[in-house]
Amino acid sequence: MKLNIAVLPGDGIGPEIMQQSVKVLEAVAERFQHEFRFESSPVGAAGIEETGDPLPEATLELCKKSDAVLFGAIGDPKYDNHPEAKIRPEQGLLRLRKELGLFANIRPIKAYKSLLEHSPLRPERIEAADMVIYRELTSGIYYGERSLSEDEKSATDTCTYTVEEIERIAHLAFKSAQKRRKKVTLVDKANVLETSRLWRKTVTRLAKDYPDVDLDFLFVDNAAMQLILNPRQFDLILTENMFGDILSDEASIIGGSIGLLASASVGTTYSLFEPIHGSYPQAAGKGIANPVASILSAAMLLEHFNLTKEAQAVIDAVELSIKLQISTSDIGGGHTTKSVGDFLESLVLEPGNFNNENLR
Ligand code: IPM
Ligand code: MN
Repeated sequence: MKLNIAVLPGDGIGPEIMQQSVKVLEAVAERFQHEFRFESSPVGAAGIEETGDPLPEATLELCKKSDAVLFGAIGDPKYDNHPEAKIRPEQGLLRLRKELGLFANIRPIKAYKSLLEHSPLRPERIEAADMVIYRELTSGIYYGERSLSEDEKSATDTCTYTVEEIERIAHLAFKSAQKRRKKVTLVDKANVLETSRLWRKTVTRLAKDYPDVDLDFLFVDNAAMQLILNPRQFDLILTENMFGDILSDEASIIGGSIGLLASASVGTTYSLFEPIHGSYPQAAGKGIANPVASILSAAMLLEHFNLTKEAQAVIDAVELSIKLQISTSDIGGGHTTKSVGDFLESLVLEPGNFNNENLR
């Protein structure tokens, strides 16, 4: 298969983790005889520095003409410390999601057997937890009107959802649940918010098209607690933009490190693959960032194009690296970003050297 992949390393640790992902994808191309072409372009603070724009025109063009986008990380403390800054790196990612119509953000979370002891949560609570969060990505409070009053004594953010916006992600979620344990949990705040009531009504109506899938509901505050108390109860969590953002960071604790969590953002035309973690500026350039979240995002890219064997080869390599502790310090290993990438690259090229059978 020929794939043109737009590479947007972004800020902080973005470039170093992205280098590892490209390397692993190149190994996949070599072993399975594909042709992947990579082209890079700046975004976020890197985009502001080069062009004054967190989403330079050329970057957006590149994404639109590519088959898929691989995204690193975004954000720079320089801007965080200046709340009054009008141009912010994050705007680049938010605009990119909107421009590409990436309305569904898919975030799988599972407890790796060999990392059970590593999570701050009790191993017996998280063992065998395996869920996916479907986060709405191009609407809600992230994209509502906002304002700051002239005297700067009040500020407003608004949250709006349309039935259509809810329906399109709910359909994807139900279809995905059909291939999993057939359970969808809608997380909302329907005891308070009108948008949440619209979500409930819409998703309840749609559920009738998927009689084999169980639908239940949780208020977001309770969901935050249940995720820690009993994560095994979840199969697929469907939720709006901001709740999904918050809950997925929380859920990363189950996996042992946010440095392991990958995501796919999809719409009707384009797709983008990015780790859920941020730019981790304190670690930038030190070689300590975990490249696995980005590499597993690359595996999601492969899956998206139905390259199932290829995706599995990457996942197997990652699982083995975790088991053998060829990993970075966030999950208890002593390796650098690059050496983890090197190991995964060699495993993808020559998996026969290791037996991964008893890992699953
Ligand atoms: C994420 C990030 C982004 C978000 C930020 C960088 C705008 O936290 O992808 O989860 O809030 O969506
Ligand atoms: Mn986030």
